[in-house]
Amino acid sequence: MSNAPRLIDPFARAITYLRVSVTDRCDFRCVYCMAENMTFLPKKELLTLEELDRMCTTFINLGVEKIRITGGEPLVRRGIMTFFDGMTRHLESGALKELTVTTNGSQLDRFANDLYSAGVRRINVSLDTLDPEKFTRVTRWGRLEQVLRGIETARNAGLRVKINTVALKGFNEDELFTLTDWCAREDMDQTFIEVMPMGDLGNEDRVGQYWSLKELRATLSERFTLTDLPESTGGPARYVRIEETGQKIGFITPLTHNFCESCNRVRMTCTGELFMCLGQEDNASLRDVLRANPDDDAPLVAAIERAIGRKPEGHDFDYSRQKPDGQVSRHMSHTGG
Ligand code: 5AD
Ligand code: SF4
Repeated sequence: MSNAPRLIDPFARAITYLRVSVTDRCDFRCVYCMAENMTFLPKKELLTLEELDRMCTTFINLGVEKIRITGGEPLVRRGIMTFFDGMTRHLESGALKELTVTTNGSQLDRFANDLYSAGVRRINVSLDTLDPEKFTRVTRWGRLEQVLRGIETARNAGLRVKINTVALKGFNEDELFTLTDWCAREDMDQTFIEVMPMGDLGNEDRVGQYWSLKELRATLSERFTLTDLPESTGGPARYVRIEETGQKIGFITPLTHNFCESCNRVRMTCTGELFMCLGQEDNASLRDVLRANPDDDAPLVAAIERAIGRKPEGHDFDYSRQKPDGQVSRHMSHTGG
């Protein structure tokens, strides 16, 4: 049985979706996400696997029914399968309806079967190009072949795979149909993401630039008939169906679309900071409350409720406003995508 939502924000939105970053580390260095010489957090700053479990369990008791595990790259966190195995009890009780993962795919060949056994049924794999040379250019350290092998293992394990593609002008523009055709052939959904002004975007490593999804969508509709699908996830994605192939395509346009009214989610970093809104700096540090009260969940629950009470109505991501280009100084790898 699921728990009734107890986290209602000031705008009457029930918070039922938690995204959790389990590490800031990654085995790739995507140019729009990280600097090549990143400094990562010392281990003691991170929530331990036990603390991650306790944190997630508390949220589930407060009515969270969907959890997405992100990073960095979540599957490079040592012992992470112990955490996934721990969540199985909440899936089995029905309190947790869905446990998903966003991954770069590099470790899937090793872990896909274990993820399925733990109860994961759907994963998102980030992939911006099907060209091996370009793949290494955008991820700096990644190898396409390894990721493709991982995706295959995942599909054979029974996981439904969705491909996340960051739209980069001058980089994967020419692969639009190659990518959608591949997803159609392999029966995978796909979501395009507008590149967000975060981290080191704008430095000399930049391989591409802002490619508006409005433009991308217009290009798609030159070849396909697109039908808008009703929104349902409470998230920033808008979906269309390509009538010719039946495939579902999502568009995440944080810069040009206001999706805040239906926001049902909060994000927790690997150090236990709760961000109520991706576009704003306000956060609540839950780790210290958790560590100070090892045998009593009440203070943690109170801290979570107080934080949700500060969830803002909306965000203000815009290239034309705020600092140089609406930059939020946090890295995606810290907050989780
Ligand atoms: N803009 C858009 N997407 C980004 N990601 C990482 N950094 C950025 C950025 N600056 C994406 C990854 C992955 C997801 C977790 O976040 O490609 O799909
Ligand atoms: Fe790693 Fe994902 Fe960031 Fe790439 S975008 S460096 S895969 S966390």
